[in-house]
Amino acid sequence: MNLSVPDYILSIKQYVAGKPLEELEREYGIKNSIKLASNENPLGPSPLAVRAIQKEMVKLNRYPDANGYYLRNKLSAKLNVPSENIVLGNGSDDIISMLTRALLSPGDEAIIPRPSFLMYDISVRSVGALPVYVPLCVSSEAISIDLDAIKKRISSKTKMIFLTNPNNPTGTIFTRDEFEKFLENIPPEILIVLDEAYIEFVRDRRCLNSLDFLDSGRALVTLRTFSKAYGLAGLRIGYGVMPEEIAGLLNRIRQPFNSNSLAQAGAIAALDDENFLKKTITLVHEGLDYFYDALDRIKIKYFETQANFLLIDVKKDADKVFKHMLKEGVIVRSMTSYEFPEYIRINAGLKDENVRFINVFEKVLKL
Ligand SMILES: Cc1ncc(COP(=O)(O)O)c(C=O)c1O
Repeated sequence: MNLSVPDYILSIKQYVAGKPLEELEREYGIKNSIKLASNENPLGPSPLAVRAIQKEMVKLNRYPDANGYYLRNKLSAKLNVPSENIVLGNGSDDIISMLTRALLSPGDEAIIPRPSFLMYDISVRSVGALPVYVPLCVSSEAISIDLDAIKKRISSKTKMIFLTNPNNPTGTIFTRDEFEKFLENIPPEILIVLDEAYIEFVRDRRCLNSLDFLDSGRALVTLRTFSKAYGLAGLRIGYGVMPEEIAGLLNRIRQPFNSNSLAQAGAIAALDDENFLKKTITLVHEGLDYFYDALDRIKIKYFETQANFLLIDVKKDADKVFKHMLKEGVIVRSMTSYEFPEYIRINAGLKDENVRFINVFEKVLKL
């Protein structure tokens, strides 16, 4: 084939997702493995969502509601923002992609903390725009987004800034005060994307809630998802909250049925499932506290987190640790692809999964 493919498309590295459990078990000939690699909800999906999806299935001959009327209304009431400010997506990945398509032209720059969620890079590159990376700020206490350094990298070409709060893979947050200071002198025409995929797990009360800035007149988009705290990662449903002008742009380019009917029904029910949400958050916090104690006991360095996952400094080749743990049926995420070759990331699982992780981890570290 003699295709003329733009260089910027060829510059994209394909996203490598955490492997499904079944695939790994097949490959390694193991059974009863546990997965703590993709920040998923260990409790499964919200039971109310499952029931609503089952009920909705008999209507699958019909197209979904292209405007997501009921889900947007439900979110509007819950978040106390007008529904006109909400755009639904096939996961929040879809909103990231729409934002770059709607607002970036070839040659524009988008600032991305490094490392952070890999989809920012892919979406920026796929429209011919240029990712400008700003390394995380590393101290012995935390590895976090460096807001000052990001500000310094703004140029006349900067059109977008991605911020993740809490950050993936470090679990750190920035506060409302830090964000307000950051906003000073940022040109108003730069779009700020605040990805809050893990916001439900935050324990630090000083954490920014970016929805408070919806009426600030700023070009600011908050991203949220049902994939984590609501346990609906397989359903693909997320949303963005943004000024109406930006929502209008996304609605022009959005695939009309980008959130399917099962996803809409499941998400509406999940929002009513407060019991499940509470149970999830408690389980995650207890799991993280267990990890802190256990890792302290075995003298392994980790970073306290505000998300449902934890970054651990294994002080050796993380890919090797990952492979050894895999053979024992425990799937973790090596951070090599995030440029932390001596770190692994695990999410809080069920109690017995967490205990199994620590037991296997101790054994693997001695190898
Ligand atoms: C920071 C961050 N943003 C967005 C996403 C994607 O969420 P969704 O499943 O809604 O596409 C993830 C998933 O891991 C993530 O870590």
